[in-house]
Amino acid sequence: DGADVEAHFAAVIAADQKIEPRDWMPEAYRKGLVRQIAQHAHSEIIGMQPEGNWLTRAPSLARKAILLAKVQDEAGHGLYLYAAAETLGVQRDELYRMLLSGRQKYSSIFNYPTVTWADVGAIGWLVDGAAIVNQVPLCRCSYGPYARAMIRICKEESFHQRQGFDILYTLARGTDEQRAMAQDAVDRWWYPSLAMFGPPDAESTHSARSMAWKIKRFSNDELRQKFVDMTVQQAGVLGLTLPDDALAYDAGSGHWRYTAPDFAELAEVIAGNGPCNRQRIDHRRRAYDDGAWVRESAAAYAAKRAREAVP
Ligand code: 3HC
Repeated sequence: DGADVEAHFAAVIAADQKIEPRDWMPEAYRKGLVRQIAQHAHSEIIGMQPEGNWLTRAPSLARKAILLAKVQDEAGHGLYLYAAAETLGVQRDELYRMLLSGRQKYSSIFNYPTVTWADVGAIGWLVDGAAIVNQVPLCRCSYGPYARAMIRICKEESFHQRQGFDILYTLARGTDEQRAMAQDAVDRWWYPSLAMFGPPDAESTHSARSMAWKIKRFSNDELRQKFVDMTVQQAGVLGLTLPDDALAYDAGSGHWRYTAPDFAELAEVIAGNGPCNRQRIDHRRRAYDDGAWVRESAAAYAAKRAREAVP
């Protein structure tokens, strides 16, 4: 009866085990997962746009091939995550429509423009670096299909982060102009990458419940701090600086003190008023409309095959 299934759900969560699609779950748990997984999937798909912008202008065939592989990976990440969301009883097409109507969102980070080739390096190093910090704990999330999707995604993210680091490493050791281009990209992408982890804990609407259900394993600020501590060291190896004069190692806590990102700007970008929100959604809507004939043909073919299969 009701009390038994709730007790069973709570026991599975408490024992750090997985809730699977056919298990009973509180409606709020299901809705919260649909919200997060769908927005995660939307982020992967929209995230193809800023980098896709440089596919035809990569400086060498090797860089073009690497970038092509990364952009294709992002499409795959989107598909794994839409498939994970569908196990919760939602239709992919419904999620697309919620994205296009603004009822569901995607990561703020993809609403910034990629103005030079060095941005591709900064996105790989900083944005995919932040994604790794945020996504590794999600491999231990309590919902089975989401946790399993994350395991493969995280493996591919480390290639994404590495290739971005390599682009910046090369530019930082190139001509003065190339070095300046790399530094300019890091200056522009640093704070938006910090903001990607979400609002400060005190303003996080979902964290308390998401952490109680072991969906979110660390708070927004804990992951942000982890990212800063990791990235400051790597900036040293790159020979590039981070645009924060207040950065200082605090031996007492073992962490780096840093200037917080502009959370008012984050709220504006989330509300749809970032530099590229309009462009990203218009591009997505065009792609969705242009793809209608493919979806209709696939559906017609499937229906024909189903009719033929009837004995
Ligand atoms: N961009 C857009 N919206 C954001 C956001 C961001 N960076 N950070 C928070 N928000 C939204 C939340 O969605 C929520 O709004 P909603 O109720 O309408 O959904 C509101 O701001 C309050 O934030 P909370 O902290 O309460 O929300 P969450 O508990 O969901 O935490 C999160 C936010 C940490 C992003 C969490 O949703 C999460 O871990 N999501 C999965 C990972 C993810 O989506 N990463 C995005 C990057 S995609 C990517 O990494 C691609 C890679 O290949 C580069």
